[in-house]
Amino acid sequence: MSITAVKGMNDILPGEVETWQFLELSAREVFGLYGFSEIRTPIPEKTELFCRSIGETTDIVEKEMYSFSDKGENSLTLRPEGTAPVMRSFIQNRLHNLDPVSKLYYMGPMFRYERPQKGRYRQFHQLGVEVVGVEDAKIDAQVLAMLHQYFIRIGIDSVSLQINSLGCPECRPGYRQTLISYLESRLDTLCAECQRRYQTNPLRVLDCKAQGCQAATVDAPSVIEHLCSPCNDHFRQVKSYLDLLNIPFEVNARMVRGLDYYVRTTFELVTDQLGSQNAVAAGGRYDGLVESLGGPSLPGIGFAIGLERLVLMKGEQRISAGGPQLFIAALGEEATERAFVLMSQLQAAGVRAEMDYLGKSLKAQMRRANKLNATFTLVLGEEELESGQAQLKNMSDSSQSVVAMDSLVAMLTEKLG
Ligand code: HAM
Repeated sequence: MSITAVKGMNDILPGEVETWQFLELSAREVFGLYGFSEIRTPIPEKTELFCRSIGETTDIVEKEMYSFSDKGENSLTLRPEGTAPVMRSFIQNRLHNLDPVSKLYYMGPMFRYERPQKGRYRQFHQLGVEVVGVEDAKIDAQVLAMLHQYFIRIGIDSVSLQINSLGCPECRPGYRQTLISYLESRLDTLCAECQRRYQTNPLRVLDCKAQGCQAATVDAPSVIEHLCSPCNDHFRQVKSYLDLLNIPFEVNARMVRGLDYYVRTTFELVTDQLGSQNAVAAGGRYDGLVESLGGPSLPGIGFAIGLERLVLMKGEQRISAGGPQLFIAALGEEATERAFVLMSQLQAAGVRAEMDYLGKSLKAQMRRANKLNATFTLVLGEEELESGQAQLKNMSDSSQSVVAMDSLVAMLTEKLG
């Protein structure tokens, strides 16, 4: 039996990879405009990094990590997300000494042992950004403006931005306690999972899809109504800067995030096109994270976009690779050899050139040129070699022109290169 890929991990094949390249290239362009530089970190990290940052009681750390011991008995984990590794690297390489404001972006595979379904995989890819060093609400709005701009650039408009504030270590504990007391009074209507976690992670109950939990939390106390005055001011400023930049958003006070490091601003870009996996991008502030990982006390904010979800949304609008600019159809040994040299010269000069390698008939070669979507074809046979001239056929309108063989490379390079 042949070997297949690991469940929930997908190949990205020619034909679809062009859409990925377009999405990645557009990210590089847009993020570059906003002053972001790329950072690349290893795929495995020490397991402790994720336990300490994402949080011991989160679904990711409790159930979803690809953790293993290496041959030296070190516990390693394939990164389930990018923020913690980037902060680890930021601290280790003292990037704060290079610039008081670090703007970083990354792209690559992440791993979570979740139940695979449409839009949810075990190896998936994120495009992420992180800004370290700015507490001012302008940067929250700037990061969201960049996300907005990226979606305009890639031509996806069926998304909406939801924002919330989760407070800070000053005000969150009070809210948490109020929420626990509220949930305690409705404990028997919660699902088994929420009955287990309502004390360790009460905010997750607000996010639970079970009918009983949703009904029980309709009138739950709202986090926004429990913000301390600095958090309230910060949230008010974020909203007013977003208005100033004409970025549409709605406040969703029930939005909680599955990672513990968030404080204050959190957000999600949601769509109704992907069924239950409706978050295309998500992020927020993590002001205490750098310090809790042993670095300086610096605020941070960022987001990550799920690339598979973007590709699904691009759907029919897929990007296709350009076919060859010239297909050389050759007949006979001598002409085939000439075509082979000509093709190599054209490729070296920057022209996408192609020929037949399988000894096919002229008719079959022309069919292949058509299938590959070649812009031009050139037929080379004994006659052409003798006369030193050949017919160049424009495949879109079937018009033909005679070209001299010895000036072919210069002529085609100028025309097509
Ligand atoms: P996250 O919400 O866990 O946040 O993931 C961000 C995005 O990654 C999701 O909105 C979704 O599009 C995509 N995603 C997550 N899990 C899967 C999966 N199993 N299959 C396919 N796509 C998935 C974070 O990871 C944070 N590190 C984001 C962040 C950056 N916050 C601050 N900076």
